[in-house]
Amino acid sequence: MDQARLNALTIINNVVNLGNSLTVEYRKCTHSMNSQDASLIKELAYGTIRYKLYIDYLITEITGKQVSDMKKNIRNLVRMSIYQLEFMKKKEYAVVSESVNIVKKKSSKDTGFVNWILREYLRNKKEIHIKSNDKHSLSKKYSFPLHLIEYLTSKVGTAKTEELLEYYNEKSISYAFNISNGTFRKMEHGDTPEKTEYIIDRAYFEIFKMLKNIEFTTVLDCCAAPGGKTILIKHINPLSKVMAMDINLERVNDIKANIDRLGLTGIEVMTADFLSTELMTMYDLIIIDVPCSATGTIRKNPDVKYNYRKKLSTLIDIQKKILKRSTKFLKDGGYLFYMTCSIIENENQKIIDEFLKSNREYALESEYFSYGNPYSGAYAALIKNGDGG
Ligand SMILES: C[S@@+](CC[C@H](N)C(=O)[O-])C[C@H]1O[C@@H](n2cnc3c(N)ncnc32)[C@H](O)[C@@H]1O
Repeated sequence: MDQARLNALTIINNVVNLGNSLTVEYRKCTHSMNSQDASLIKELAYGTIRYKLYIDYLITEITGKQVSDMKKNIRNLVRMSIYQLEFMKKKEYAVVSESVNIVKKKSSKDTGFVNWILREYLRNKKEIHIKSNDKHSLSKKYSFPLHLIEYLTSKVGTAKTEELLEYYNEKSISYAFNISNGTFRKMEHGDTPEKTEYIIDRAYFEIFKMLKNIEFTTVLDCCAAPGGKTILIKHINPLSKVMAMDINLERVNDIKANIDRLGLTGIEVMTADFLSTELMTMYDLIIIDVPCSATGTIRKNPDVKYNYRKKLSTLIDIQKKILKRSTKFLKDGGYLFYMTCSIIENENQKIIDEFLKSNREYALESEYFSYGNPYSGAYAALIKNGDGG
């Protein structure tokens, strides 16, 4: 069990201190592990990261110490220990002794401090209720950075923001989509998809309903890996001919594995940079599922709320370039289908507004946007070439 805690701590350190992706770190750590150990590691790592700001607030309120004043190498261990006490209702003596054992292994000179801070926490522990709903209070209560609280309140007001924050802090639910009958099955931890199933975000099943009244045969999925949208398009139109392209070779191999496993045909797969590759074909429909901040998936990826801003301007630049490039391979009368799993306007409506202003021959057919609940936050725009004013 101590090994599981050590593993969880390594994940938290790599995410919080180095800015690495939580999903990637979790998968790397648990890929050959039994599902019971993986489940405990997930609870510890995802939970501590999801509530990091709230935990820091509790520590300061109860012990008078700021986490930022603690040595860097023990901050996350203290956070993870408080997470276990507050959210997992673990036996107090067990949490203290396991944490002290971990610190003994890693940096024995800090044993005394970790022991003291956890005992101080337990001695002075009290019920803490944050009743106020000003932005600073919401930031602490729901463990969201102030800038994201400010963004949400400016868009949807305080009451709706609080509803969303509650939703974002719930554990995410995965669904397996059955390509043979179009139904979804809720996945439990440790479940694996059956032969005809693929795990898909249900928001995109809703989004792909936007295509129900249009005709198309040739499809370019220009940012296709690991293949979720390619699979959905084949479900909607089994006779379509799809070119699934992605810049990342490893992820392209995932597309191949997924379509082989599901036995899908009529899909060509290509590793290429869409921004510099010439294609000989013009397409009826181009799916543009751009790389984005993933802020619509905070429930599943709680680390995103702390890290997304650093990459935002680079991502927006790529999004605009990919959208512009896609016009080069679209038939007259064809459709661009732009989408993100972002709740940030600058990656969504703003990109499309700007595109439509400078490409008058294109017209917006339909748009989808959700901040999340009951599914992930996501955006999509279906744009037709040839109907503009
Ligand atoms: C949001 S993900 C796509 C998810 C995928 N459509 C699905 O449903 O499974 C964005 C993808 O864009 C790819 N990408 C980024 N820049 C690209 C480029 N210049 N050309 C092609 N693919 C690119 C990334 O490798 C990544 O796999």
